[in-house]
Amino acid sequence: MKSNKKNIVLVGIQWGDEGKAKIIDHLAEGADVVVRFQGGNNAGHTIVVGNEKTVLHLIPSGILHKNTTNVIGNGVVFDMAVFLEEKRRLQSKGVDVSANRLKVSEICHVIFPFHQLLDRARETAKTKIGTTGRGIGPAYGDKAMRLGLRLGSFRDPQWARERCELAYQDKALALKEMGQTQIPPFDEVFTSAVQAFREVEPHLIDSSRYLIEQSKLGKQILFEGAQGTLLDIDYGTYPYVTSSNTTAGFAACGSGLGPAKLDFVLGLTKAYTTRVGSGPFPTECLVAGEDLDAGKYMAQKGNEFGSTTGRPRRCGWLDLVALKRAIALNSVHGLALSKLDVLSGLPKVRVATHYEISGKRTQDFPNFWIEDVKPLYEDLPGWEPFPGTCKESDLPKSSLHFLKRIEDYTGVPIVMISTGQKREEMIIRDPQFKI
Ligand code: IMO
Ligand code: MG
Repeated sequence: MKSNKKNIVLVGIQWGDEGKAKIIDHLAEGADVVVRFQGGNNAGHTIVVGNEKTVLHLIPSGILHKNTTNVIGNGVVFDMAVFLEEKRRLQSKGVDVSANRLKVSEICHVIFPFHQLLDRARETAKTKIGTTGRGIGPAYGDKAMRLGLRLGSFRDPQWARERCELAYQDKALALKEMGQTQIPPFDEVFTSAVQAFREVEPHLIDSSRYLIEQSKLGKQILFEGAQGTLLDIDYGTYPYVTSSNTTAGFAACGSGLGPAKLDFVLGLTKAYTTRVGSGPFPTECLVAGEDLDAGKYMAQKGNEFGSTTGRPRRCGWLDLVALKRAIALNSVHGLALSKLDVLSGLPKVRVATHYEISGKRTQDFPNFWIEDVKPLYEDLPGWEPFPGTCKESDLPKSSLHFLKRIEDYTGVPIVMISTGQKREEMIIRDPQFKI
């Protein structure tokens, strides 16, 4: 049976933590397959159902919907221990995580403990990116250096052992040079990887062939981005970025389904901006007084603490300059906006419409961050608090004005608005996203 439902790629268009899991959870209700295509367990995706909160780092956020099959695509770097632990946690909540609905690409590259050690050791004052410490960068590094190990390689333990030892020695040397001598012995690392692999193996598939086949059957496929566009390794605020391409085009590379099958790109932004870790953030609220207070207000009301590392997130105003760039990079068809409720109660709400760089006014998001970038703001009236809702008629007038300003600036319609943490607190403006 052929359905007329479009395949959707959901990407964060800020610095991550836009609330992707909630949108995926909503769309998954009517979808067949949910796919993660990049990143790893550096992601922290939170879903709230009733009073129960589920945080996922590696397993796709579609897993809570019985009708879906969930796929971890080849673009993901895969920590076997984290996968098994996450699986166990879901299982204990009664979620079906059997191999027929939770599938992993056999060509995912493996994150080993030595990748984590190196990730953390590199975070010295001179080279601090503020990573999540999960070994993401070194694992992608090994993949690019042709030193990586793909999950399916463990089917031939002797071969895997030789390759793994090469990768281990390379990392051990680097660690020793940095003065770190407490590295677990190779045998220990390899033995526990082999043990974990036995449990992971039943989940392995060729994700590309699987997704192509599902697509031919007319199944609807959702792609769940991790991190955000401004953390993209090419287009983000390099070097303060993650180690993968987080933009929509990578949904094809990281899953093995061809790019012509990516029908609709949904770009997700918060009503304001947050960032964890170091790096440029022009609209960060740092000026003592009203500005700093607004930032603290967002942090507290929006509970802005990283769900992976627990670090407080830096907070600031919505940056339309960055948003417009991200929309173009992803060819976003429609916008989803989260946390509209968090901004309520502020006397005024600001949006950055331009930057001033070396005395020049621009609407271009820079590729380099050498000069000081000063945001130029437009002030909009604030709005009173409103209860989490699924009806647009419940929204205060000034908040509608804010939404309209974003649409006018970017030229892209806002099709979904999240007004609270709960599943039902979501306004759907475009009928194709109604479930
Ligand atoms: P989700 O999917 C926000 C940030 C880290 C750091 C940089 C590099 O929940 O939106 P890494 O460990 O990837 O090498 O760290 O990227 N970062 C995220 N920030 N949300 C995320 O994921 C992130 N994943 C990585 O804080 O600045
Ligand atoms: Mg997150």
